[in-house]
Amino acid sequence: MILSIESSCDDSAIAITEIATNRLLFHKKISQELQHSLYGGVVPELAARLHAEALPKILEQCEPYFQDIKAVAVTTSPGLAVTLIEGVTLAKAVSVALHLPLIAVNHLVGHIYSLFIEKETVFPLTVLLVSGGHTQVMEVKSLQEITTVAKSMDDSFGESFDKVAKMMGLGYPGGPVIEQLAKEGDRERYNFTVPLLKTPKLAFSYSGLKNAVRLAVEKAEEKDYKDIAASFEHIATKHLLHKLKKYFQTNPPKNFAIVGGASANLYLRKQIQELLKPYGAKLLLSDLQYCSDNAAMIGRAAVDMYKNNMFCPLEELDIATKSSI
Ligand code: KG4
Ligand code: ZN
Repeated sequence: MILSIESSCDDSAIAITEIATNRLLFHKKISQELQHSLYGGVVPELAARLHAEALPKILEQCEPYFQDIKAVAVTTSPGLAVTLIEGVTLAKAVSVALHLPLIAVNHLVGHIYSLFIEKETVFPLTVLLVSGGHTQVMEVKSLQEITTVAKSMDDSFGESFDKVAKMMGLGYPGGPVIEQLAKEGDRERYNFTVPLLKTPKLAFSYSGLKNAVRLAVEKAEEKDYKDIAASFEHIATKHLLHKLKKYFQTNPPKNFAIVGGASANLYLRKQIQELLKPYGAKLLLSDLQYCSDNAAMIGRAAVDMYKNNMFCPLEELDIATKSSI
């Protein structure tokens, strides 16, 4: 079994995964959404303090599995430095105490592996990652051959939902509340501009759209918020579709996946499904419970890393706030 730890942002999570079968034997996640909601976003120092409280509590519950654990996996990048270090420190302590090798997992690779929890891997894959920290398209040939073909130049897709929710005083995280509000609204009422429509560049940008929404919110009354939310969600999604369509002209998709916290968005899922139809491409999605940050995806990635002997010596295990992919 592998014990995996995730603490890259505001979720403290630990999982136990069986190496031979990919079975998830234990998974516990303590989210800090409520505590950060007051501030409209994640406060790093507060997050670190909450991880320091939560992780040892979850670890205690893993004691019955200790004798069967063969490696300790932990998210080392990308993420918030002060929160990553909490998971890494705990992983090192467990590694020393139980004499176990360490596996350093990239959080984005983890999100890709959220597709394969309790399942076999499917490669090659074209992946759209939409989370709070990232918006990027990747070609994934295998665990060790991942190429990023497009990414955001500023804010991410999920982050833009968080910021719009904050403008409307709707707390954090913004994705689920904006999606809910948008369901009652008129997508056509606000004519926001699709970002980067005129440039051929394969990239994403959400800061301009965010500012356009800010101006609309400032002028609007609360009864208009649902229409703003719907129009914003529509344009934010249209931007993704427009750039993907462009990319597909030269790289038609076969197996396509959406991962990351914002991949839980049903409007986005439906629109992408439509986009893939003419190509006859298959759409892979994670279970809704594993779209947002969790340790099960880190453990599942670590199973494949374990089988490929991808261990990290204790003295080399360190955090990095930026991702290598
Ligand atoms: O993957 P994740 O849990 O954390 C990061 O790695 O960043 O993603 C969290 C992000 C937040 O920005 C949240 O607002 C967004 O995912 N999100 C959504 C939805 N559910 C979560 N965005 C849009 N629609 C949703 N239904
Ligand atoms: Zn994430």
